[in-house]
Amino acid sequence: HEAVHHDGAHRPGERKGFVQEMRVVAMRLHTKDQAREGKQEESALPITEWRPTRADFLQFLVDSKAVYDFMEGYVAGEASKGNPLFKPFVNTGLERGQALASDIAWFRDELGYQVPEPTEAAQRYIDYLRGLFERSPEAVLCHWYNYYFAHTAGGRMIGRNMENMLFGDGPNAKRFEFYKWERDVKQILDEVRERIDEVAKDWPREVKDACLNETGLAFAYSGTILNNLAK
Ligand code: HEM
Repeated sequence: HEAVHHDGAHRPGERKGFVQEMRVVAMRLHTKDQAREGKQEESALPITEWRPTRADFLQFLVDSKAVYDFMEGYVAGEASKGNPLFKPFVNTGLERGQALASDIAWFRDELGYQVPEPTEAAQRYIDYLRGLFERSPEAVLCHWYNYYFAHTAGGRMIGRNMENMLFGDGPNAKRFEFYKWERDVKQILDEVRERIDEVAKDWPREVKDACLNETGLAFAYSGTILNNLAK
């Protein structure tokens, strides 16, 4: 049966579980150009028009790594303290920190780049997440979901464009570890969806809504990191 909420309204996707609720909110924030279900009118530069340099791409990898390292460190730390909210999200197979470390090392060792520090934008996102973990740990799950799932969808399309544009698309094309998973990523996503639904199933409506309400900020902060490329 469906619970009756204080405002009497049903949330789209609610019957299917909480992941579907988060997905519906996320898809509404895409532009029509980004995804079939996108609802926003065009505003951002389409990804096929992005013309960053290799150094910009390296900065994007460094910023992404800073955020993933923070999320992965936090989740592992909480899980080791026995926090049931984060326990299901340790070693899911979605972790990106190590893959990014090897891609960044490749830039340094093979191309001779000096590895930059993360930008202030990445640092601001991490500071925001740290504060949110203190105030409202459930709401962090929205950022976690959006950050990891976005990377498997639009993130992969962006990655392929970057690889082809900056490193060529022949048979020996460079393919970054950031865009490879140890198992079929679709299967990992299915497993993680089940875990999110299980963790969130007894959350009161207010807690679910507070989590859903983070979606805009998840997009805004991820957008500042994508800005390394969207130029
Ligand atoms: C899904 C594109 C940015 C979160 C998708 C999908 C596409 C896409 C094509 C697949 C839709 C489908 O499964 O039918 C893009 C592009 C982006 C972008 C081109 C930027 C240029 C973002 C951002 C976020 C985000 C910034 C949030 C931080 C998601 C989520 C899904 C999704 C949560 C659902 C994934 C799933 O259900 O497995 N995106 N996206 N996307 N995107 Fe994005």
